[in-house]
Order: sequence, then structure tokens, then C-alpha cells
Amino acid sequence: MKRNPGDAAAPSGSEVFLASGLSRRTFLKSLGTSAVTAAAMGAEQVSQGLAQANAERPVGPGAVPVTLTVNGEKKTFRLEPRVTLLEALRGEAGLTGAKEACDRATCGACTVLLDGTPVYACSMLAIEAQGAEITTIEGIAKNGELSALQKAMVDKDGLQCGYCSPGMVMVLTALLRKNPRPTEAEVRHAIAGNLCRCGSYPRIVAAARAASGQSAGTKLTFISSHDHAVA
Ligand code: FES
Ligand code: FES
Repeated sequence: MKRNPGDAAAPSGSEVFLASGLSRRTFLKSLGTSAVTAAAMGAEQVSQGLAQANAERPVGPGAVPVTLTVNGEKKTFRLEPRVTLLEALRGEAGLTGAKEACDRATCGACTVLLDGTPVYACSMLAIEAQGAEITTIEGIAKNGELSALQKAMVDKDGLQCGYCSPGMVMVLTALLRKNPRPTEAEVRHAIAGNLCRCGSYPRIVAAARAASGQSAGTKLTFISSHDHAVA
């Protein structure tokens, strides 16, 4: 399921990351969420956990090695812990398919898959993505062959400026993997966190339906290039 704005971990200058990747705040937060949990863990376990969290070496704020598995390839970069996943992908890995638009978990242009789940790469730290399988739009076509969804996006004219398209393809790829024959309502729900400023929604929905071997659903009117010229 797509993470909604607010669900995705927001970059925070005050977060302290530990060498294990666990943040001290995360440990304390997990502990603090439930008195029942703390009670169940027992005082000894709690104090052991705290001692371990305190003993771990904080990383940053300078650059540290960060290893990301992107489209099946492991790559190590030297990044400050504050660097977002989107900045790492675009600026360090040279993968510019995921777009930066709002940079605040609102538009979905930066969507990538993290272990198959769509996330806003602008609102997650690269260091937090270590250990996960990251898939970007560059990893969707195989051996130069577009996916059925990418072909349908072209066939159904599912884009105008194309700025939202990588994010749309990522979120719909995740949907079709889980639900190979989604209803029109399910497709619309899946793309609810992705904005298309050009208003290509009916054609994007039609593309998702076509990729799953179903009819478009919404009636589409195609404007011929001749009509464009006359208009
Ligand atoms: S750029 Fe990430 S949600 Fe808009
Ligand atoms: S095609 Fe332009 S923003 Fe969607």
C-alpha cells in the first residue's frame, strides 16, 4: 500500500542515526508507544536495549558510507545522513527518472518502490533505505523492452508533459503486481497520491486497465493531430 503524505519518514536534522541503522529515537519511540509493550519486555530487557542504543556510535553529520540496492545493483555512496533518497538517486546514482516537484510528500512525482511498496523518495532519507530493494522507473523495462503498462501509457496517450509519468508508472506497477485485474475505482485509488497537472487521469486509468487486459472504463475522446492543427 502506498505511504501517504505524513506516513513517509520526513528528513529531520535532529535525528541521530546509529551504526546499525536503528535510530535512538526509533528505539525510544517504539518503547514509548505502549506501556504494555514496555511492561511485557521487562525492566531488564528495556535497560539492555537502552544501554545498547546508548553505546552505539552515532553517524554523521558528515558524509558516511551508504549502500543502496537499486534496480538489483548494490552501490555505495558517501552521503551525509540528511540526504534524501531522491537526492541520492538523482544526484549520486545518476537515475533522474524519479522527479523532484513538490519535495514535500504531496505530488508523487518522486515515487519509487521500496521492497515493492511505493514511497515518496523526496521524504525518506537515503540512509534509511539501506537493506531494501529499491526500484526506480529505470528498472521497469527489461532488456530494452517496455513493460505492458509502459506500452499502454504510450498507446492510450497517458501523458502530456510526462512529468508525473514515472511516478504513475511506479505506483501502478505496484498495483498490478498485487492486483492483476483492478477495477477502475481501484486504479483511481492507487493513483490518489500522485498529481497530474496536465489532467491526464482518464488516460492513465485507461492505460492501467488496458495493461491488465480490460477495457478502458471511462469513455475517452481522442483528438486527431489534424484537429489539433485546426484548433
Ligand atoms: S517530489 Fe516527492 S511527493 Fe512531490
Ligand atoms: S502528464 Fe503532465 S503532469 Fe501528468
